[in-house]
Parts: sequence; C-alpha cells; structure tokens
Amino acid sequence: MMRLSFAVAVGAVTLAAAAAVAQPAPQQPPPLTNLQLYPKDTPRPQLIATMQGFVQALGVQAAGGCGYCHAGTAPAFDFASDAKPAKTVARKMILMAREITGKLPEITGKTAAEVTGLRCATCHRGVAIPKLLPDILTETATKSGTTAAVQQYRELRTKYYGGQSYDFSENALVAMATPLINGNKPDEAMTWMQLNLEFYPKSSATHAALGQAYAKKNDTQNAIKSLEKAVELDPNNQNAKRQLEQMKR
Ligand code: HEC
Ligand code: HEC
Repeated sequence: MMRLSFAVAVGAVTLAAAAAVAQPAPQQPPPLTNLQLYPKDTPRPQLIATMQGFVQALGVQAAGGCGYCHAGTAPAFDFASDAKPAKTVARKMILMAREITGKLPEITGKTAAEVTGLRCATCHRGVAIPKLLPDILTETATKSGTTAAVQQYRELRTKYYGGQSYDFSENALVAMATPLINGNKPDEAMTWMQLNLEFYPKSSATHAALGQAYAKKNDTQNAIKSLEKAVELDPNNQNAKRQLEQMKR
C-alpha cells in the first residue's frame, strides 16, 4: 500500500524532483529473517518491546544494551546474526522458561491460565548472572579475603541499593553469620556484623549474632554485653534471651 502510493507520487513529479527522491530514502527496517522461537510474522514493535524487556530484566543497559546479545555496534546491529554466544544462551533461556512454566499446572494443580509464568526477571532481577548476594560475598571472601568481600558489599550497595537485584535488608548479612560461627570463623562473622551495624545500628538480630561470635571466642563478657543489647533493642528476641540466660548461668 505504502509502496504503491509512493510510486504514484514519484510518477507525478518532475525529473528534477525525481532525482531528489532517488536519494536514499529513510530506510525501512529489514524484515525479520532469523526468528526461530517467536512466530516469523511477529510484528516488529511487539518483538522490540520483548527485546527491551530483556535489556531491563538482565540490567544490561550499561553493558551494551541490545549489543549484549546482538552482533555489531550501535546503531548498526546485525540483529539476525547468531554470532554472539549470549543470543544463543538467551534462546535456550526462553525455551527453559517455557518448559518450566509448562510444568507448573501439573506441579501446582492450577490451570495454565492461573499459574505464574516464569519470566526472565523472575530469576534475573536486573542482573545478567543472577547470583545471590551471600553467594557473591562468600566466593569473594574465600578467594580474596573478607576485607575484599566487605569492600565488594559496599560497592554493590552503592550501585544497586533500592533496586531489585540484591537483598540489602537487615537480615541478609545476619544470615551469613551463623554458618561462619558454626564453621569456627567467629572473627569473620564479627566483621560482617560490624558492617551490618553501620547500616542497621538498632538491629537486635545483628547484636545477637555478634554475641554468639564472642561466645564462640570464649569472650563471655562481650558476649553478654551484645546479647543484652539485642534483648534491649527487641525484648521479644527469644533466641537472644535464651542464650543470655545460658551465659549467665
Ligand atoms: C538477552 C539477549 C538479548 C537482548 C539483550 C536483545 N535481544 Fe534481540 N534477540 C534475542 C534473541 C534470542 C533473538 C531470537 C529470537 C528467536 O529466535 O525467535 C532476538 C531477535 C531479535 C530480532 C530479530 C532479528 C531477525 O531478523 O531475526 C531483532 C530485530 C532484535 N532481536 C532486536 C533487539 C533490540 C532492538 C534489542 C535492544 C532493545 C535487543 N534485540 C536486545 C536476544 C536478545
Ligand atoms: C529459572 C531462572 C532463570 C530464568 C527464568 C531465566 N534465566 Fe537467564 N540465567 C539464569 C542463571 C542462573 C544464569 C547464570 C548462569 C551462569 O552461571 O552463567 C543465567 C544466564 C543468562 C544469560 C547469560 C549471561 C552471561 O553474561 O553469561 C543470558 C543471556 C540469559 N540468562 C538470558 C535470559 C533471558 C532472555 C531470559 C528470559 C527469557 C532468562 N535468561 C530467564 C537463570 C534464569
């Protein structure tokens, strides 16, 4: 339809104007040629909206945007090309999400319309490799030491606080303390709890964990002090109360 009226218009103009028209016209986007999962006749705007959703879900705006998965450089991407491994991974991710979503009715007893479909963001939450914060920190601590891991926590917090990517709530670091104390690394547990107190000075659970770390080091005096602080901040902290009673026995 567009082409036809365009041709009619060209036929009607003078030779000089026709020469001007022959200049490269605003380019029509090429047709979609390499859709293997989405229907081949998917309207371009709909596909692009899905693609923008990918960029958002994986948080790759600053890491190349569309170019995170697509070959070429902005604005001359070769969207049909499969040269970038990330695009191939993304295709398999789409299939994986479909497969799991397809199993949910059987697993949950709900209908296909009722189940919550698995979206990219369900796992990715704005990061390309959706690793949980305690796992990131533990890996860094094992590889490069606790100081480096604490530094990494500060950096991640500065960059991602307020977003959906990582849990910076009061209890996230507290959860790291218990395995460290049980694993006989009370000093490391204490480092994390001191860090947590910078952000949550009134955290009863943090003072309680600190108390447990002191107890592990047989520093009864400081253990009692920390546990008392925990109970003072939250009189309903039964765990801390019980431990305090045991300590004072
Ligand atoms: C996380 C990886 C990823 C990101 C980021 C991404 N894409 Fe894609 N894109 C894909 C995959 C996978 C396909 C192939 C889908 C299929 O096979 O049906 C695709 C296909 C396309 C196609 C169809 C190409 C063709 O001719 O077959 C276009 C156009 C496209 N993407 C545009 C974009 C744009 C624009 C952006 C940025 C807003 C973008 N993509 C970001 C993974 C991505
Ligand atoms: C069930 C959880 C889950 C879902 C749903 C999911 N992913 Fe992933 N994805 C992962 C995990 C976990 C990794 C990291 C694997 C690793 O350790 O390299 C990953 C890695 C990727 C990577 C590679 C990133 C890199 O830099 O190595 C791409 C691209 C990707 N996912 C795209 C997608 C897209 C697009 C969707 C939605 C269609 C999606 N994923 C849905 C869990 C998921």
